[in-house]
Amino acid sequence: MTWLITGGAGYIGAHVVRAMIEAGEQAVVFDDLSSGITERVPAGVPVVRGSVLDRPKLDRTLAEHGITGVVHLAAHKQVGESVEQPLRYYHENVEGLRVLLEAVVEAGVSSFVFSSSAAVYGMPDVDLVTEDTPCAPMNPYGETKLAGEWLVRAVGRTHGLSTACLRYFNVAGAATPELADTGVFNIVPMVFERLTRGEPPRIFGADYPTPDGTCVRDYIHVADLADAHVVAARKLATAPGTDLTVNIGRGEGVSVRAMIDLINEVTGYDIAPQVDPRRPGDPARVVASADRISAELDWKSRHDVRAMVTSAWEGWVRLHPEAARD
Ligand SMILES: NC(=O)c1ccc[n+]([C@@H]2O[C@H](COP(=O)([O-])OP(=O)(O)OC[C@H]3O[C@@H](n4cnc5c(N)ncnc54)[C@H](O)[C@@H]3O)[C@@H](O)[C@H]2O)c1
Repeated sequence: MTWLITGGAGYIGAHVVRAMIEAGEQAVVFDDLSSGITERVPAGVPVVRGSVLDRPKLDRTLAEHGITGVVHLAAHKQVGESVEQPLRYYHENVEGLRVLLEAVVEAGVSSFVFSSSAAVYGMPDVDLVTEDTPCAPMNPYGETKLAGEWLVRAVGRTHGLSTACLRYFNVAGAATPELADTGVFNIVPMVFERLTRGEPPRIFGADYPTPDGTCVRDYIHVADLADAHVVAARKLATAPGTDLTVNIGRGEGVSVRAMIDLINEVTGYDIAPQVDPRRPGDPARVVASADRISAELDWKSRHDVRAMVTSAWEGWVRLHPEAARD
């Protein structure tokens, strides 16, 4: 198999490319470099600069590289931005996917892995979120992921494409410091940024119905997530007609306060958090049931939250050497 990895120069995509290569698969990256960095892509892996909205470029790339499977990570992912620019998010994330699927069907590609998100669930009122928990996204970003899943499944059924929709929970960490997330959109880098500036990390709401009053989330190490892509891709390649939708999480809830305490400990800082009012649309608890992926793909996460914070911090200090503590 030769896999086209869209968004392969991004934070998660670069980890997926690395994991695929280490597993002996062939990979080609297709990325418009809007937030991707080519230096993240391992040497020897071709990088085609292009948008998934560019059908002629997709057609050429699929044909020239003899692509037989696609892992589609390319997307825009900022919730707040999606509220301000819904047309752009639907265009990039849904129309881009539609154009890509058209090219994929035309080229006779057999397998398609789609990056979905726990954002499809919105505010689930359950202890553990299973894949059968009703989807009710709370913002245009989550809507584009749910619409994307519908599109992927519909095309899979009609055109005989094996598909997997992977619903990532909160992704953190880095396999190596160079592959660390450079964005500051998730709690771990957001806390790093505050500590580096000598400012208290922020907790948005400490009056939720959770053990310590702060929101509870499920964190997954990006290297484990990348391994799950390899296992999913192989399943699709060996089992035509697969139509799989799975959560990728650890099934373990970690509160915002516990995460900030751990980050202080790992980084050597000791700055107590400040409590601010709740943000609208933040669910109290979102923790995955990881049973289905374990049963269907025999996959389990290997890294704990400490490993995520430690590896993310090494990446942060590489970019912000002034942050390091003795
Ligand atoms: N980071 C998370 O916590 C998280 C959680 C759930 C789901 N996801 C999903 O995982 C995927 C990857 O996210 P990430 O965190 O690596 O983000 P990222 O911004 O680092 O990576 C996205 C990549 O896609 C590329 N890209 C964007 N639009 C493109 C287009 N039209 N054509 C070609 N390339 C394009 C960017 O240049 C970038 O390299 C996204 O689909 C995102 O929605 C991420």
